[in-house]
Amino acid sequence: MDEAPTPNEAQWRNWNEISGPKWVRAAAVMEGRLAPVNDLLLSEAAPRPGEQVLEIGCGAGATTLRLAAAVGATGGVLGVDISAPMLALAERSLGEAGAAQAKLLAADAQIHPFPAGAFALALSRFGVMFFADPIAAFRNIAAALAPGGRLVFAAWAGIEANPHWEIPYAIARRHLGPPKPRPPRSPGPLAFSDADYVRDILAAAGFEAITVTPVAVTLAGRGAAEEAELATLFGPSGALVEEKRPDDALRATLHEEMTAAFARFPTLPGGGLALPATVMMASARRR
Ligand SMILES: C[S@@+](CC[C@H](N)C(=O)[O-])C[C@H]1O[C@@H](n2cnc3c(N)ncnc32)[C@H](O)[C@@H]1O
Repeated sequence: MDEAPTPNEAQWRNWNEISGPKWVRAAAVMEGRLAPVNDLLLSEAAPRPGEQVLEIGCGAGATTLRLAAAVGATGGVLGVDISAPMLALAERSLGEAGAAQAKLLAADAQIHPFPAGAFALALSRFGVMFFADPIAAFRNIAAALAPGGRLVFAAWAGIEANPHWEIPYAIARRHLGPPKPRPPRSPGPLAFSDADYVRDILAAAGFEAITVTPVAVTLAGRGAAEEAELATLFGPSGALVEEKRPDDALRATLHEEMTAAFARFPTLPGGGLALPATVMMASARRR
C-alpha cells in the first residue's frame, strides 16, 4: 500500500512510518515481553485443528505462528494488518517456520470485505484499539465470522494498572510537559481500557455472550537500561517523546531516570525484570 486507502489514515501513517519501523527493530524484545499474553489468548480462544482463524492487527506474526500451530495443516489463519514493515517481518517468520496454512493480508480490518461467515474465530493481541470507528470495524469483523463464531482479544487496561508504563510516563511528563489534548478514547493503546465501553461496542456490532475482564499478567522484561530505552520508544512515554522531540541531553536524562526506576522492579528467575501488567481480555460470540 503506497498511499493510505483507509479511514484510519493517522494510524496507517503511525504503523507504517513511526511505530511499525520501531517495533521491527525491537521485535525480539517486544515478542519476549508479550509472549505471556499469547498464552492467555490461546487458552481463552482454544483454536482447534481444522479451524479458520482471522487475526486482526497481526503485526510481526508472533501470535499468527501460535495460531497456525494450533489449527494445523488442515486449518488456516489469515493475518491482516495495515503496516507494511510489520507484515514483511511476519512474512519472513512464517516462511522460516514453514507455516503454509497462515496467510497475510495488507488491509484495514475496519473496512476490508472479508469473505462472509468464513471464520470460526477472530482473535487479536493488541491490534483492535486503533480503529477510528470501532463499531463499524467490529461489525465488519462480525460479518467475517460464521454465526456463533468466537471473538477473543487482548487490549491494555488503564495506565494506572500498568506500572511499566505509568512510571516512565510520569518521568517523561515531568520533563516534557503534558501531551496535546486528545478526545477521550482516541485510537491508541489505551483506547479500550474501559470494560463497559468495550462491551457497548461489541453489543452494537452484533456480538453476544460478551465478557471483558481485567487479567493480571507478568511481562518478561529485559534489563533496566533496555526497558528505559523501550519506554522512550513505545507506550504513553514513547508517544510523548515522539510528540515533544527532546534534544539529546534531555533524552539522556530521561533514560537515566527511567533506568533507575526500572531497576526497582523485581527480577525474574532466569534474569530480566518481572513487569506486572494488566490486560483486558475480551471474548464474545457473533449473534
Ligand atoms: C500494538 S501492535 C500489535 C501487533 C501484534 N498483534 C503483536 O501483538 O505483536 C498493533 C498492530 O495493529 C495494526 N493495526 C492498527 N490498525 C489496524 C487496522 N485498522 N487494520 C489492521 N491492522 C491494524 C498495526 O499495524 C499493528 O501491527
